[in-house]
Amino acid sequence: MHEWTPDARELADLELLLSGAYAPLTGFLSSADVTMVVERGRLADGAPWPDPITIALPDEIRSGDRVTLKDPEGAAIAVLTVEERDGHHASGPVEALDAPVYGPFARLRRTPEEVRKDLPDGEILAVTMRGPLDSAALDDVAATAEELEATVLLMPLVFGEGGPAVVRAALKASAQLPGSSVVAVPLAPREDVEIDLELREHVARNYGATEHYAGPAPVVIPGPPHRRGLVVFFTGLSGSGKSTIARGLRDALLERGGRTVTYLDGDVVRQLLSAGLTFSREDRDLNIRRIGFVAAEVARHGGLAICAPIAPYAATRDEVRAMVEEVGADFVLVHVATPLEECERRDRKGLYAKARAGLIPEFTGISDPYEEPDDAELVVDTTGMTIERSVSTVLNLLTSGGWIR
Ligand code: ADX
Repeated sequence: MHEWTPDARELADLELLLSGAYAPLTGFLSSADVTMVVERGRLADGAPWPDPITIALPDEIRSGDRVTLKDPEGAAIAVLTVEERDGHHASGPVEALDAPVYGPFARLRRTPEEVRKDLPDGEILAVTMRGPLDSAALDDVAATAEELEATVLLMPLVFGEGGPAVVRAALKASAQLPGSSVVAVPLAPREDVEIDLELREHVARNYGATEHYAGPAPVVIPGPPHRRGLVVFFTGLSGSGKSTIARGLRDALLERGGRTVTYLDGDVVRQLLSAGLTFSREDRDLNIRRIGFVAAEVARHGGLAICAPIAPYAATRDEVRAMVEEVGADFVLVHVATPLEECERRDRKGLYAKARAGLIPEFTGISDPYEEPDDAELVVDTTGMTIERSVSTVLNLLTSGGWIR
């Protein structure tokens, strides 16, 4: 039996399929259903349905196969019986294994059946929330509930970073709406506003709603740059001056005060966090992902992380940029573009000589690739440049971007 861990969005859909929140759907949609949904907003059997619910699986999984779907912590949540493959997509029914416990708020993520059992008879006003209810919205909900003599069911839609905040907002609103209750629903937002609303309405009905009130879209006011998390990521050949500039930057930031700094030097990371990894492409990528993971955690809490590995592959640097932006932080790529000849002339660790002599295989720049970035926020060639000048070039960028004051 195959095993597969779907991405966050697919897992959210899976949870809703399993809980009955997506009824009448009981599995991922076939290509015929997808076509009908996209063209007519209906399933192939004519039932209204707003959005194609699909999953991508690796190609070696064929129709007829059964796949155990696992959450990122490794717990098996469901079995998917693949009925059809259409490109990367697979369709078929899903059967629940254990109740999903992955992710926060398990206590508040009750199934539609559990919720309906607890609701009183009569009108149910479901309020789906992607952000807090402002006082106007709260008054609106209270007035509508009174008019309809309805019980209020608050449904914070928890997906991604904003999850905890919207749950807190729902619990707060619930305290102000007598008789109301809260159920957290992992419904990922849809890009198309109409489709998003229709889907929210469908899910609300399955939870027993007779009326649906769509809470206002959250107003995202990003904090000023000097309060946001920041990752300054240096990339460049061995001996290019990355570590030297990174250390100088760290010291300059600590001297100014006002920001916490975590420094993840390439060589230092390889002594503990990435100990045992080689310089194969796979291991280099893993090394960079580990650095990116730690840096993103630092930045999630508003900290500033400085990274200085070679990071020779563009796709992996892109991944780190995405990881950092995902947590609402900023990513600044600095290409230390000192040419190979200069790095080799310096050869401070004597590694280039050894690499030329064939004693170190897969040495970046000599016998292994370095993909030059075309998306660097700053390019510094340290040839004939003092350390102070190089550091102040980076400091100037951070100041002009508002990250430091
Ligand atoms: S990366 O490719 O995974 O980003 P990283 O920055 O961690 O590399 O490590 C690079 C350092 O390891 C170099 O500065 C050098 O001191 C040392 N090193 C040892 N072997 C190699 C190699 N084959 N290629 C590049 N650097 C190497």
